[in-house]
Amino acid sequence: MTIIAIVSQKGGAGKTTLAVHLAAAAERRGEVALIIDADPQATASQWAAWREDQPPEVIDSAPPRIAAKIRQAEEAGATFIVIDTPPHADAAASKAMEAADLVLIPCRPSAFDLAAVKTTAKLVKLLAKRAWVVFMAGAPQAERLHADAGKLVETYGIAACPHRIADRAVFRHASALGRTVFEIEPDGKAAREAERLYMWACEQVGLTTCDYVEEVTR
Ligand SMILES: Nc1ncnc2c1ncn2[C@@H]1O[C@H](COP(=O)(O)OP(=O)(O)OP(=O)(O)O)[C@@H](O)[C@H]1O
Ligand SMILES: [Mg+2]
Repeated sequence: MTIIAIVSQKGGAGKTTLAVHLAAAAERRGEVALIIDADPQATASQWAAWREDQPPEVIDSAPPRIAAKIRQAEEAGATFIVIDTPPHADAAASKAMEAADLVLIPCRPSAFDLAAVKTTAKLVKLLAKRAWVVFMAGAPQAERLHADAGKLVETYGIAACPHRIADRAVFRHASALGRTVFEIEPDGKAAREAERLYMWACEQVGLTTCDYVEEVTR
């Protein structure tokens, strides 16, 4: 079973967007995906309600119950778990990270968001976890901006993921409908970026579903 924690102390960084798209990508590739929504705002749970509980399944969890919920999910057949966490909450972030094989830190490439990565980086170090910053919602072509942002997060001891999810309106449209970009624009750039990120995450954790990559990056 693969467990990915999505963590960022900054509000609106793209945690829930990343969580639902990784889980949806996994489901499309034959995994039994589950999102554990550890955020009291319950955004991922709301998204699941809007999509009338079409997979991926979303369950909520108070932070101290995350480990128990993972055990139950594994017994029930889940193979790919994504934990979505709230902003400004060290306890939830810690519990999610403790359980995870891989920690992803979504971050917009802006000064305030980048500064907030420092706090999350300290937690990552404390828990000795494999973690990457994933740049979210930046301008699609802003290579220089992202290169500079990547260098900055490296000074906090965390590398930037080589794949990023650009600012694309379809992400906002999809969320508002309780859907994913895979369902709305399956051949669009947003879907391709989300799929690539998923494949890359699979490589990081040694998950072999990456074999299907050809079908989606054509
Ligand atoms: N790549 C993107 N392109 C366009 N809009 C995006 C992108 N990623 C996220 N958004 C939008 O940004 C807003 C915040 O995203 P999201 O809810 O995923 O952040 P969050 O980190 O989960 O927020 P919170 O800290 O409140 O839980 C949402 O309206 C979402 O649709
Ligand atoms: Mg959220």
